[in-house]
Amino acid sequence: MPLPLLRPRQSFSLPVVWSRSISSLGAAPTAGPLVLRAASSCTHPRCRCGCRLASGCSCSCCAHPRSSSVSSSLSTSSSRSFSSSSSLSSSHWIPSPRNLRFFSSQPAMAQEFKLKDIQSLADLQDLDKVESEVEGIQDAKVLVVKYNGEYHALSHKCTHYGAPLKMGVVAPDGRITCPWHGACFNIGTGDVEDAPAPNALNKFEIVEKNGAVYVKGEESAIKSGQRDPAVKCSASSVGPEKIVVVGGGGGTLGVIQAVRELKYKGAITVISREPNLIIDRPKLSKALIPDAEKIQLRPREWYQEAAIDTVSDEVTGVDFTKKIVATKSGTSYPYTKLVLATGGVPRGLPLEGFKDLGNIFQLRFVTDVQSILKAVGEKNKKIVVIGSSFIGMEVGNALASGNEVTIVGQEKAPMERVMGERVGRIFQNNLEKAGVKFKLEAGVVKATPSDADASKVGAVHLNDGTVLPADLVVLGVGVRPATDFLQGNAAVQLEKDGSLKTDEHFAVPGLNNDVFAIGDIATYPYHGPGTDPKTGTYTRIEHWNVAQNAGRGVARAIVHSLTAPSSAASLQSLKPKAFIPIFWSALGAQLRYCGNTPNGWDGLVLHGEPENGKFAAYYTKGDTVVAVATMGMDPIMVKSAELMRRGNMPTKSQIEGGLDVLMVGVPKSVKV
Ligand SMILES: Cc1cc2nc3c(=O)[nH]c(=O)nc-3n(C[C@H](O)[C@H](O)[C@H](O)COP(=O)(O)OP(=O)(O)OC[C@H]3O[C@@H](n4cnc5c(N)ncnc54)[C@H](O)[C@@H]3O)c2cc1C
Ligand code: FES
Repeated sequence: MPLPLLRPRQSFSLPVVWSRSISSLGAAPTAGPLVLRAASSCTHPRCRCGCRLASGCSCSCCAHPRSSSVSSSLSTSSSRSFSSSSSLSSSHWIPSPRNLRFFSSQPAMAQEFKLKDIQSLADLQDLDKVESEVEGIQDAKVLVVKYNGEYHALSHKCTHYGAPLKMGVVAPDGRITCPWHGACFNIGTGDVEDAPAPNALNKFEIVEKNGAVYVKGEESAIKSGQRDPAVKCSASSVGPEKIVVVGGGGGTLGVIQAVRELKYKGAITVISREPNLIIDRPKLSKALIPDAEKIQLRPREWYQEAAIDTVSDEVTGVDFTKKIVATKSGTSYPYTKLVLATGGVPRGLPLEGFKDLGNIFQLRFVTDVQSILKAVGEKNKKIVVIGSSFIGMEVGNALASGNEVTIVGQEKAPMERVMGERVGRIFQNNLEKAGVKFKLEAGVVKATPSDADASKVGAVHLNDGTVLPADLVVLGVGVRPATDFLQGNAAVQLEKDGSLKTDEHFAVPGLNNDVFAIGDIATYPYHGPGTDPKTGTYTRIEHWNVAQNAGRGVARAIVHSLTAPSSAASLQSLKPKAFIPIFWSALGAQLRYCGNTPNGWDGLVLHGEPENGKFAAYYTKGDTVVAVATMGMDPIMVKSAELMRRGNMPTKSQIEGGLDVLMVGVPKSVKV
């Protein structure tokens, strides 16, 4: 039973708290410059590899000197200022290679800029955060966070889609989580901790003096609000190790970026059958963008700088004994570590007309968007979307303007199985306002040709006799794992659904921890609420964050196995990357969802104003809250995810009893 730690003064409520506390502040309480020096505990929180080596590890994420003396976090000594090198060398920001990269990029150019909205740091309590404008730089802001007695100034917006981090959740192990889709950053360094953030935050020195607070940094860094992760790797430093990643999607991005962030120096080859570089796939169904370059997550130069080879080819088989990947073009790629991230294949409908008629589309790749938009042409089309799950709903919503869209679903309400009828109706209502029509509790019988062109679809027939005229049809009826290239391979056993079962590190059992499967093809032991406390519950989750976080976890596992002393190189000595699945969707308004329900759910507590499309839905199994969905109620979803991650999510009875998730303290330790 989770034990809520009530925090009357919560960091999420800071905008209010701060307007009060700042206005009540007078001059700075100290005369001399206030120098922020850091506790130099090096195992936590900057150690991101999760090693359990009692003697301290030499991994690249926490390989900085272990100075045992910890200076007080606040000092008024005027003899040590930010510009003094002695002060810097005692700072916890300095030692990690990633930090060095940042500091080395701001020598003489760094300047001090006064913060407009903060006159003193004295009133910040631990885990408080406040956004402030930066004087002298137009439209520039920073976020100041107090954590562990220290003050940190960071870029104020999430590097994913730009959410204001002042609305995020600060955890006592030094993380700040974005309020929208769960990206997480290290407060001490600004580094990315969890997907889906592509870039790190910039980190600035902060000083209080003469009754004002200043940040010190380059103007360009303050303005840009983000920095590329440290992935640079020169070809000459590439060693004998060869990571081959099959697939060019969300999971792959997680692995290749994190493995270079963790200073892996070996070769990396990405083989994808998509012609484009990795794209922001979730945007495909929301914005129907036909140009891959516009949603490409990294430019080609980024791969070059990180010494990552990209190959456009289809993998047709793997020899797990010889450790070789074979492709359609006849090329072989030897590997020392192999990551399989081939995603899903959209399902078709095994019904009359659906196999042979034109203008029936699926949606997974940029080429699918191009085909759909070509068929839509100048709009004014009759479009039938089959499937009322999230892809069908998103694409229906995106095509509604200027066309006649009907979504056909089997359930009583869209997404009923996952979300329940009451919540599904909210989505339905949102889309109906946009002009979308629904045919629910409907079965599709067949598709028939158009009178004008017999090669193309003209109508969709339902089991109640309804005939829906259709210029085009989009299928959103689910995906199956893209593992055809492993069918019949004696070294691996595919699950019934075609996925690969993995352990907590996403390693495929029986292959010496050299082969990993992530993303939509992985069935892994999920340890969130509602699962078996010892073994977790095996499940396959089709979320962007799950794929990317799993990729980041695999990067840690690979680097651990290559760098830890041989006595500790086994993955058993590594704590698996702990994350709660997070999903989002655009259904007339932004839906956010965390948790998962591999063992189902049997109760729903609905708060907010569902009639106005603003709600927090708590899905429960017995008294355990197993998933949370919200619309217009940030940051309840990410707060719940952090609480689930730390085993402190309130129970159903507590929520029914009026306990506000936003008032529950976030414990330090991670429990999943
Ligand atoms: C239209 C759409 C919208 C979505 N929206 C959201 C959302 O809003 N939020 C969310 O959380 N999730 C969303 N998802 C789900 C999310 O995108 C997936 O869960 C995620 O992309 C899975 O990542 P992955 O790396 O496993 O696979 P993918 O991203 O699908 O990447 C798989 C890659 O493998 C390649 N490949 C496959 N087979 C081979 C082979 N044999 N050889 C070489 N390459 C191969 C593919 O070409 C592709 O590049 C959406 C999915 C789609 C399709
Ligand atoms: S905007 Fe921050 S995670 Fe998406």
